[in-house]
Amino acid sequence: MTSKIIDTNLMKKDPVFGQLSFDGHEQIVFCNDEDTGLKAIIGIHNTVLGPALGGTRMWSYQSEWHALNDVLRLSRGMTYKSAITGLNLGGGKAVIIGDAKTQKNDRLMRRFGEFVNSLSGRYITAEDVGMETRDMDIIREVTPYVTGISESKGGSGNPSPVTAYGVYMGMKAAANYKFGTESLEGKKILVQGVGHVGETLVKYITEEGAQVIINDINEARLEELSKKYHTNVILGNDIYNLDLDIYAPCALGATVNPDTISRLKCEIIAGAANNQLADEGRDGQLCADKGICYAPDFLINAGGLINVYSELKGYNREDALNQTREIYNTTLEILNKSEFENITTHDAALKIAQERINDKSDA
Ligand SMILES: NC(=O)c1ccc[n+]([C@@H]2O[C@H](COP(=O)([O-])OP(=O)(O)OC[C@H]3O[C@@H](n4cnc5c(N)ncnc54)[C@H](O)[C@@H]3O)[C@@H](O)[C@H]2O)c1
Repeated sequence: MTSKIIDTNLMKKDPVFGQLSFDGHEQIVFCNDEDTGLKAIIGIHNTVLGPALGGTRMWSYQSEWHALNDVLRLSRGMTYKSAITGLNLGGGKAVIIGDAKTQKNDRLMRRFGEFVNSLSGRYITAEDVGMETRDMDIIREVTPYVTGISESKGGSGNPSPVTAYGVYMGMKAAANYKFGTESLEGKKILVQGVGHVGETLVKYITEEGAQVIINDINEARLEELSKKYHTNVILGNDIYNLDLDIYAPCALGATVNPDTISRLKCEIIAGAANNQLADEGRDGQLCADKGICYAPDFLINAGGLINVYSELKGYNREDALNQTREIYNTTLEILNKSEFENITTHDAALKIAQERINDKSDA
């Protein structure tokens, strides 16, 4: 191996602790394996309430900086998601740098599992974008610190249907708050992204008689689902000018930003995507100023986390669904708190989550 002279002018200052997304994270683990080509980062944000649980995302990041920022942001989000949901879990997340379609294989998964195992349970992994239940089964071969394994192997399987149920509960609570009735009958709802979570959400809301419009970059999927659920379809990116009651982002993060907020004509934003607000403070306030009720993503998309948490204690689907139903009450509580304290809904949720962490730290 040759050592290269590093041009210090090219090195970015404070590569880890100086990152914008760094927020007092407890531990960041860089995993490298020459044999399998594995390059991964595990971020442990906070373990005050319990071991850091959060999914692994496999993605072709533009650069390592993007991967690092993603894991920092996502692991922090998990801390607050667990705290607001009342789970005894901390926040963690992992990213594997690479294309899940072409670079994922069983050896790479096992090697990643060994890195997870080396943390002795401080971090527990699960499924996220680019990963499947089968991958969790492979990781399980080398570590017990994984959730979301197949039902046939004693696990809880794909968490997405439970996530969708929680989003549905959060949406109904927001409807109750905003329209004075939790019924979604006749409400015009745009679901952006009809993947694992989006499809089940569409099922729930069409069954309730909502007028549903679906949008996705996968046109074959749109055709299939519009026939299956009798929904309308909108193609392309120009979706933010529609007249809607509810916008449900179920694809990517950061779709709620100054540009989209200025165009959105809806009363409620409630969806599954993580990190929907491009800038939490600024965009939460912009929604409030425009009278849009934003149901905090990390609160209403916690069903999948509740489901995998249940697996740690011996999986019981009924219990997981019952606990997920509670998202309805918590959402109403947060929306009322936001109004009462004149703070954004996002801040109201964050405040309750932080108080729970502080109480445990002080105990
Ligand atoms: N799966 C879970 O249990 C879970 C839990 C919490 C949060 N989330 C979040 O919810 C979102 C959806 O998760 P999922 O498991 O359904 O993912 P998925 O990959 O199954 O589905 C995402 C869908 O969005 C579509 N999409 C991608 N880019 C798009 C764009 N620009 N415009 C429109 N559609 C686009 C994809 O084609 C796909 O159909 C993600 O942000 C995920 O992080 C998922």
